[in-house]
Amino acid sequence: MTALLLRGRTLTFLREPHSVADHDAYAYEEDGGLLIRDGRIVAAGAYDTVRGQLAEPIETIDHRPHLLLPGFIDAHVHYVQMQVIASYGAELLDWLNTYTFPEETKFRDAQHGRRIARLFLDEVIRHGTTTVAAYCSVHRQSAEAFFEESHQRNMLNIAGKVMMDRNAPDGVLDTPRSGYDETKALIADWHGRGRQLYAITPRFAITSSPAQMEMAGALAAEHPDCHVQTHLSENHAEIRWAEELYPEAADYTDIYARYGLLGKKTLLGHCIHLSEREADALSESGSVAVFCPTSNLFLGSGLFDYQRYRKRAKPLRIAAATDVGGGTNYSMLRTMDEGYKVIALNGEKLNPLASFWQLTRGNAEALSVADRVGTLEPGTDADIVVLDARATPAMRLRMETASTLAEELFLLQTLGDDRAVREVYVAGRAAKDGLPL
Ligand code: GUN
Ligand code: ZN
Repeated sequence: MTALLLRGRTLTFLREPHSVADHDAYAYEEDGGLLIRDGRIVAAGAYDTVRGQLAEPIETIDHRPHLLLPGFIDAHVHYVQMQVIASYGAELLDWLNTYTFPEETKFRDAQHGRRIARLFLDEVIRHGTTTVAAYCSVHRQSAEAFFEESHQRNMLNIAGKVMMDRNAPDGVLDTPRSGYDETKALIADWHGRGRQLYAITPRFAITSSPAQMEMAGALAAEHPDCHVQTHLSENHAEIRWAEELYPEAADYTDIYARYGLLGKKTLLGHCIHLSEREADALSESGSVAVFCPTSNLFLGSGLFDYQRYRKRAKPLRIAAATDVGGGTNYSMLRTMDEGYKVIALNGEKLNPLASFWQLTRGNAEALSVADRVGTLEPGTDADIVVLDARATPAMRLRMETASTLAEELFLLQTLGDDRAVREVYVAGRAAKDGLPL
């Protein structure tokens, strides 16, 4: 049995904080301890209390004065787009055709998939992210490569091979039958193996024929414990085309509803231009709208109205995500910084406690994995990020005038990136410097 005691300033959220004065929404220990055994947190609280429960001394790592938080969660990212990130000058549909689809054809080669999966998981961990919901390419081997690398790192990740059978080059197309069969095989091989979870992944309504959407709906019905992930209402030209392709549907959201693809485990990337009817449909089905601020800004897609969605009579479940490679940074700190600005452009503010709730427990709840990750509660997996709010000269200087925890968090979000990540624990093992040889 391996045991480890971490010492530092521990912060975990109990629920969504309504303001910076909402101190009941979180548990913070200035001198905290986390006792980890076999990859799980088994005790948390004041360091002296946790230490006092131990019969004998164990390995202790003192991270003071840094913060210990649950590892960040990225609810929508395309690992196969690492070499698409920073591609210039296009809106969504042109960007897909010019850069993304050609790049994804390379994942026919299993070796390429393994290389990129390895680099991707190292990169997200380096940025403090311990769980992602990832899109692979259409090729089964791209999903196998992802899951193999994820399993080796003992990460809790959600992923799926995209299903797409039209309106893209041949090199990234499957068929309704092969998409179904390969998804089925991947679920059998990987869903629930170690910490791996499968997401049924029809890319979006434009690249799936009605026959493929039927298959995706059948898979969702046959595997209610799997997630479903797709894209919805990102860009005006995309919305028009999707609605033309499915004229019988009331709107874009209704396309997915008609195929049985909405529900509590459905993650819908973007959701920027929803009508009130569509937002009601998402709320009633418990589907999750995924906020991808850097991508929405980079592709000029629009401003996700986070506060309106949360405060409406029928509120939406919301997650936050990088959407790399439409998104422009692997860091969830950079993501929420841009998210703050998007929300500001909609005339609202997001308080820093709510931001960090979103990145941890909020995203875990949206992904239905809060019993396993997203908090520092005993019984959950020991996925932990260590943050240094004085990581750069500019941060150090600004910290001289910060006197509250909320100010420190806001500074981390506004000025922080991978440099602020001092260590990352994945299932209790230090992982920032890559896999041990
Ligand atoms: N819609 C369909 N596919 C994609 C994708 O890869 N990225 C983004 N941002 N939107 C999409
Ligand atoms: Zn996406």
